[in-house]
Order: sequence, then C-alpha cells, then structure tokens
Amino acid sequence: METRSLSPKHADAPMVPIIGMGTSKTLDTDDLVLAGDVVSAALDAGTTLFDSSPMYGKAERTLGAVLESRRAGAVVATKVWTDDDVVAERQIAASLSFYGGHIELLQIHNMVRWPERLRRIEELRDAGQVTFVGATHWKAANFDELEAAMVTRRLDAIQIPYNPREREVEKRLLPLAAELGLGVLIMRPFAAADLMRNPPTAAELAPLEAFGIQTWSQALLQWGLSHPTTTVSIPATSKPSRATENANAGDAMPLDDEHRDLISRLAGA
Ligand SMILES: NC(=O)c1ccc[n+]([C@@H]2O[C@H](COP(=O)([O-])OP(=O)(O)OC[C@H]3O[C@@H](n4cnc5c(N)ncnc54)[C@H](OP(=O)(O)O)[C@@H]3O)[C@@H](O)[C@H]2O)c1
Repeated sequence: METRSLSPKHADAPMVPIIGMGTSKTLDTDDLVLAGDVVSAALDAGTTLFDSSPMYGKAERTLGAVLESRRAGAVVATKVWTDDDVVAERQIAASLSFYGGHIELLQIHNMVRWPERLRRIEELRDAGQVTFVGATHWKAANFDELEAAMVTRRLDAIQIPYNPREREVEKRLLPLAAELGLGVLIMRPFAAADLMRNPPTAAELAPLEAFGIQTWSQALLQWGLSHPTTTVSIPATSKPSRATENANAGDAMPLDDEHRDLISRLAGA
C-alpha cells in the first residue's frame, strides 16, 4: 500500500499507509472478538493508523484492548474532547493507559477549548508521551477556528471531512495545510454511510477498473486520497470483510481529474 508522511514538515515523521481506520460507533462495543476481527483484518491488509476519541464511548478502550501485541506496529491517533480542564486530564490519562503510555497523534477534538488543549498537548509532547499535535473539526461553519490554530504553526496534522459532497476544505484548509506542511487525515470518506445508500452499478464503476478500483467504497477512498495534500483516509466499519475491502483501496492508483469528476457525478454531487 502507498505510504505518506504523517506530518510533511518533519523530515523524520513516520510514513503511514494511506488507508487508516476510524472507530466512531463501530468500535463502541464490548464484543472484543468482533472488534478484534475488524482491527486484525485492517492490520493484515496493511492499515496501521487508527483514529479514536473519548467521544466514541467504549471505542478507545476497545481499540487498545484488541491492538494488544500489535500495538507497536500501529499509529494511534486519538483526541481530547471536553471544555472541562479536570475532565480533559482524565481523558488524557485514560487514553495513555489504553495505548501503553504513548500516543502518536493527540488531536483537539472539534476545537473544544483549543488554546488550552494545544498548550497541554505540547507539554505531553515535550514530556515524550505524545509524538504529534493535531486538531479536528467536522463542521464547515467552524473551519475558521481550525484555521486559526493552523496559522500558529504549532500543529503537525489536521483532520477534516472530505468526500464528493463535502468539499469546503478545498477552498482554504487544504491549500493552507500544503503551505504549512501538515498531515491531513480524511474523516467521513463515505459521509457517514450516506454515500453508501445507493451505490453505482458495476457497469458505472467499470471505467475505474483501470486504476485498480473494484468497488464503490474504494472509489470514494481514492477520490479523497487523489487530492495531493491528503495523507490518510480513516473509514470506519464494523465488518472485517469491509475493513479488507477498504484497505485494498490503498493499492489502487491515484485518479486523474476526469475520473474524480465521474465519481462526483456518481455520488450525486
Ligand atoms: N470531529 C471529528 O474529529 C470526527 C468527526 C467524524 C468522524 N471522525 C473520524 O472519522 C472516522 C470516519 O468517519 P465516520 O465513521 O463518521 O463515517 P464514514 O467512515 O464515512 O462511514 C462509516 C459508515 O460506512 C459504512 N461502511 C464502511 N465501509 C463500508 C464499505 N466498504 N461498504 C459499505 N459501507 C461501508 C459503515 O457501516 P458498517 O459498519 O456497517 O460497515 C459505517 O456506517 C470516524 O470513525 C472517526 O474516527 C472524526
């Protein structure tokens, strides 16, 4: 699978495979057998980056439990999400305990109380408990806040929504991320399954076979990753076979504009 730098501004940042995995809803479960099968399928197919948050119920804990002996080969991106400073400390301590005392990318979730969280994540980085500093928002109306954090030059990566129906980031955030050398994690590559409700037919997808794309999910993943400023897409699934299908999108070839436009039309965008 193709790999890209988690944070291009750091010459020594790790390279991560372009397909990662989200955990919102899908790993909020006590079923460690199924969760283990989903995470193992992703790892076996070459995925290494897993994104979570204290907002996702049991997902952070479940991810930590099922990574187990494979933790060393994983890149964990989690978040801190609260406007309460005491609760934030509790969230950070819990996250560190789930992942062996170290988090590769700690992100400010939805920019909640971001100046304070940014300072705290930098302290954790300086203490060696976190490697990279990130920030996320899912809502275009709040991208100004994300942009304000980006221009401080204190972030290493951002996480934004990007799919054929959500392209606001192309206006300002992606050009700015390129200028600043930030890693870009793509959330909501399927618009949280909205784009999966009426998938195109095999005949409609046939022109994409030349790029190594077999399925609609793979088309949508490569659509986002074919933007030159993106780093890794983090689709979530509760099904091992879909984890494999999604990871295999990372072996496809980048799309040209003509075929990206085709996918946008098929997505009804
Ligand atoms: N503010 C933030 O920081 C923020 C906001 C949103 C998301 N995120 C992150 O981004 C991740 C991804 O976003 P998301 O979970 O909202 O949405 P998503 O990845 O766009 O879509 C997930 C949905 O797609 C379905 N799906 C996955 N693979 C499929 C396939 N191959 N074929 C058909 N359906 C498939 C899943 O259902 P099944 O389980 O049935 O497969 C699930 O319902 C989250 O898990 C989270 O880690 C962050």
